[in-house]
Amino acid sequence: MKKLALITGSKGGIGSAITEKLVSQGYRVIATYFTGNLSCAEEWFEEKGFNADQVRLLELDVTNTQECVERLPQLLAEEGTIDVLVNNAGITRDGQFKKMVADNWHAVIDTNLNSLFNVTQPLFAAMCEKGNCRVINISSVNGLKGQFGQTNYAAAKAGMIGFTKALAFEGARSGVTANVVAPGYTGTPMVEAMREEVLESIKNEIPMKRLARPEEIAEAVAYLASDASAYITGETLSVNGGLYMN
Ligand code: CAA
Repeated sequence: MKKLALITGSKGGIGSAITEKLVSQGYRVIATYFTGNLSCAEEWFEEKGFNADQVRLLELDVTNTQECVERLPQLLAEEGTIDVLVNNAGITRDGQFKKMVADNWHAVIDTNLNSLFNVTQPLFAAMCEKGNCRVINISSVNGLKGQFGQTNYAAAKAGMIGFTKALAFEGARSGVTANVVAPGYTGTPMVEAMREEVLESIKNEIPMKRLARPEEIAEAVAYLASDASAYITGETLSVNGGLYMN
């Protein structure tokens, strides 16, 4: 019987690499995509050469509590308990705080942080009942160290870490671990959208002088998903080329 993983934002740069990695390890992956983006999701599915046993696409707006409360229990009834949940969906709306508009604050908090409640809550009880399951939340180096222009993003990404530590207590007795992977600057469309000179100056600050490859983030997720990590919980695993060491 295949293990079942659910990955939010799975066709993004990091999400896609995590999906490919878990599929290569024999998982069946429920890959969520944002409302209305079916044709993009189908294109991604075709391009990656997945089949329907390996990956099921699921339309899910992770910011919509009601939609999650309706769709996720339905999914459990159809597929069974999720063994590995990867909360990966995330956005940026960078800007100096003094100029930040409320919409950009709320969009980032809703997508990057409130989504953890919306997605995890309908799935977590069944995970505890089954035991030996995994919750893995994708935070960021900037949730640990802060970053100019990212008050909204850093607040959400730091909040994910607090959430994970608290959830780790609640899953521990059932062997359900909750951990964070905190990527540094990674070669994805999100990072490549930054102004070139800003990205260059950030690259210069990275001791390894390069961006992470999405596959390097996926390796850390695969480890935390595996049986080898059963005794690690409430932990944050940084994959940042030395940009921030805590
Ligand atoms: N520290 C201190 N001051 C800084 C600064 C920094 N890091 N960066 C910029 N400033 C200063 C500038 O020197 C400038 O000062 P002057 O007006 O005196 O010249 C002032 O702040 C304005 O800077 P910008 O011209 O950059 O301001 P802007 O309004 O045009 O742009 C911004 C603001 C969009 C936030 C831009 O600074 C930026 O892109 N910053 C980087 C944000 C970032 O790292 N985003 C990561 C996105 S990817 C991601 O988030 C993935 C992940 O998890 C890592």
